Amino acid sequence: MVGQGAIGLLTACQLQQQGAKVRLWLRQPVSLAVHFRTLDGNSRHHRFEPWPTDQPIHTALIAVKAYDALSCIQQLQPLLAEDACLILSHNGLGTLETIQPLLKPKQQLWFLTTTHGAYIEPGNQAGRQLVHSGAGSSVLGAIQAESHPIPTFANALNTALGPLQSVTDILPYLWRKLLINCLINPLTALHQVQNGELARPCFAAELTQLLNEFCLLAELAGYPQDKAAAWQQLQQVITSTARNRSSMLQDRLAGRRTELEYITGFVLREAKRFELRLPGHEQLYQLCQDAGF
Ligand code: PAF
Repeated sequence: MVGQGAIGLLTACQLQQQGAKVRLWLRQPVSLAVHFRTLDGNSRHHRFEPWPTDQPIHTALIAVKAYDALSCIQQLQPLLAEDACLILSHNGLGTLETIQPLLKPKQQLWFLTTTHGAYIEPGNQAGRQLVHSGAGSSVLGAIQAESHPIPTFANALNTALGPLQSVTDILPYLWRKLLINCLINPLTALHQVQNGELARPCFAAELTQLLNEFCLLAELAGYPQDKAAAWQQLQQVITSTARNRSSMLQDRLAGRRTELEYITGFVLREAKRFELRLPGHEQLYQLCQDAGF
């Protein structure tokens, strides 16, 4: 397991609970204590040992911020087995193009996208206080793999972040998740509101414009969206995560770099490729930049 973000630690805790031997790869090779509050409100204590730096890595879930994904894989490279399986999981798009060329022919790259909600309570440096805040589901698909059988690690992921759907083409799912993220994340981070606030009528016109523009781009990029279904899914996510802070708002409040470049930034870079203007996303991006993230 690589990374100590909420989704990585949630997976690690769930797997350890099932008896799996989970090791963490962090910037510093130290063990990590996690105090985990489960969905039903129970508390569990977990401890993870660091990955031994002399052992090859066969399977790794890389659940780091999009901007850390490339450097993370570069660091792991010397330890990766010839047929290592890497499973990448982050918000946004735009990392795969730089990561794929680094992999050897038999090394596999998979992508996992999840709607499980989890967050780390700020403040405690001695360990991590992890909260599983919302049940969700996950989708797994190959980005680079010689064949696409259901991989053995899919069972483990189903236990940790299930129900898990395995698909042959993950990119349409990543575009739909991108749509959700580029409507919810910058707006909540900019206005510093919980996701549920976006259900207020004052946000409806802006969300509609952002959705319409996204659909124009997605069509050109080859990932057409059913606008009504996308709107419905957006409302469903806003409702089911109403009391959550989006990851971008959490990053902003914690003074961390945000994934703006891989969410709205990616959308605008793609739009440029098609010589398409997206005034709503352009303005939102500018406002986020002006606000310093
Ligand atoms: O990034 C996030 O916060 C989440 O992906 C989502 C779905 C927007 C819910 O907060």
